[in-house]
Amino acid sequence: MSTKQLILTLTLPALVALASCGGDAAKNAEPVSLVVEATDTQGVKDAKTAWATLCVTCHGANGLGDGAASAAFPVKPRSFADKTWQASVDDAHIKKIIVEGGASVGKSALMTGAPHLKGNDEALGYLVRIVRSFGN
Ligand code: HEC
Repeated sequence: MSTKQLILTLTLPALVALASCGGDAAKNAEPVSLVVEATDTQGVKDAKTAWATLCVTCHGANGLGDGAASAAFPVKPRSFADKTWQASVDDAHIKKIIVEGGASVGKSALMTGAPHLKGNDEALGYLVRIVRSFGN
């Protein structure tokens, strides 16, 4: 095999792999941080703050649905580690329930939602990534 052939053989699969990255699925697979950093954009800060002050109280720090505030709920939050559930919902569904609450998607109204995040696409995108991260 010539050097040129060898280079092509090695770089082509890498290029194909790169090209197939991008889009929501790839982005959702990137690791997230839950710690607010000075360098974070406002939307990411908003997402991390909402997660830590709001979502965690019901969903638990690891997204298992074991937060203290929901312990006595008749319908408990599901575990975000459930890969079957993760695969069954798209990002738009997750964003809708976050902003408008459970009743908006036919789920328990005890999932209160965060209407203050309406239109904050960056925060919603990052919250989706946080939710998805527990299923990776
Ligand atoms: C007051 C408690 C509470 C808070 C706060 C809360 N949730 Fe929930 N959440 C729930 C409950 C209860 C359910 C289960 C609803 C059901 O299955 O009927 C749920 C369900 C969900 C679901 C799953 C929807 C589905 O299709 O099954 C997602 C995603 C979610 N919450 C995200 C969030 C995020 C992100 C936040 C913070 C912005 C948040 N929740 C804040 C209680 C809460």
